Amino acid sequence: MSKSKTEKEPVKKNKRRGKPKKSLQRYFDAEHGIRNHWWPALFSHEVAEDDVKGITIAGERIGLRRANDKIFAFRDQCVHRGVRLSAQPTCLTKETVSCWYHGFTYNLKDGMLSDIVASENDPLIGRTGIRVFPAEEVGGVIFVFVGDEDFDTPPLQDDLPTYPDESKRIHSPRLQDDDALALGIHRKCIGDWRLAAESGGDPGHIMIHRKSALVLALDTALSLGEPVSGETSLLVNDKGWPKSVTKYNDNIEPVMHREELNIHTYGKRVPEGLRVSLCLPSTLFVENWPLPGITQYEWYVPVEKGYHEYWQLLVKDCPTEMDKEDFTLRYNTVWEDLALKKGFNDDDIFAREAMEDFYNNRNGWDEEQLFFMDKFIVEFRKMVHKHARGVQPPPDEL
Ligand code: FES
Ligand SMILES: [Fe+2]
Repeated sequence: MSKSKTEKEPVKKNKRRGKPKKSLQRYFDAEHGIRNHWWPALFSHEVAEDDVKGITIAGERIGLRRANDKIFAFRDQCVHRGVRLSAQPTCLTKETVSCWYHGFTYNLKDGMLSDIVASENDPLIGRTGIRVFPAEEVGGVIFVFVGDEDFDTPPLQDDLPTYPDESKRIHSPRLQDDDALALGIHRKCIGDWRLAAESGGDPGHIMIHRKSALVLALDTALSLGEPVSGETSLLVNDKGWPKSVTKYNDNIEPVMHREELNIHTYGKRVPEGLRVSLCLPSTLFVENWPLPGITQYEWYVPVEKGYHEYWQLLVKDCPTEMDKEDFTLRYNTVWEDLALKKGFNDDDIFAREAMEDFYNNRNGWDEEQLFFMDKFIVEFRKMVHKHARGVQPPPDEL
């Protein structure tokens, strides 16, 4: 028999009751990110032929160069005096990238120092270099594998979200589908990458969206919260790859109004086929959102402590040129603003920023008091703790 309210052990206000933190230690240690995973780096169109762009993933400075339409990734830090090669792109041949400062020139395939502009017989040549990273392009996005040099690189496919139970597959396009067209944005946001991922999948936060322009415009019956209750409403795939936690909407009684609290939702249209998964490394996969036939992807890429790169993509199957034109027009005129920016996802950004002080400066990881609906978040934490292929060290140890 369950205890009545009065018999329950009281919880001290603003004090936690002793969480078994050790059981998730790798998760709590991963403030700089997780290692040996594929992350989105830039859109393909952001790196033109013979251009060099510099980005940061999990503290790692990475340069991206396109040569003969192939993408190469390397540590964006010259071995001579440490400047970023991307600060002034210098591409003298199709096989190399050069430092703009004193002309150290590196082979794109293995990063070896292959020449120096004014010192062609220099004894350093062939004896040092910059490390290179595996890089691939899928659906117009460049992915880079950030991790140990000697790590046996898994296929990119293993880190791209999918749904593990084919018998329950519903139609919603995937980035890697032949006809998929992916359109979206990425931006640097305040917030620990873990908090961002947790908030993306959080079944309890949905009430912040009840007055969103997107929800009202599409008359979507989005609940005030979805009481997940373990096995009946969560599917944890921790056998094969990709690793994922999925929330089943068919076993959930969504809360649409609370008379006692004078709060209710506004939309009437039940979202068909909506399914939410959170996957490794840090990917939200929302099937049939914002409308059936569209999939929304989000990545929360660790950049440096307290910041993440927020990636948002909408993917639609577009087998013909007319389909592509149509989806592009709708993306530019409707979806980018209404779904990815101020009509919806900017509310998520506001919430993430609001959490940051508590977790970053005020011992929030110890002080938080999770509730029933945070089961989804706890499963994500377990998944990272158990299955992340490594924990990223601080930048000065890279
Ligand atoms: S700093 Fe790069 S060549 Fe000198
Ligand atoms: Fe949200």
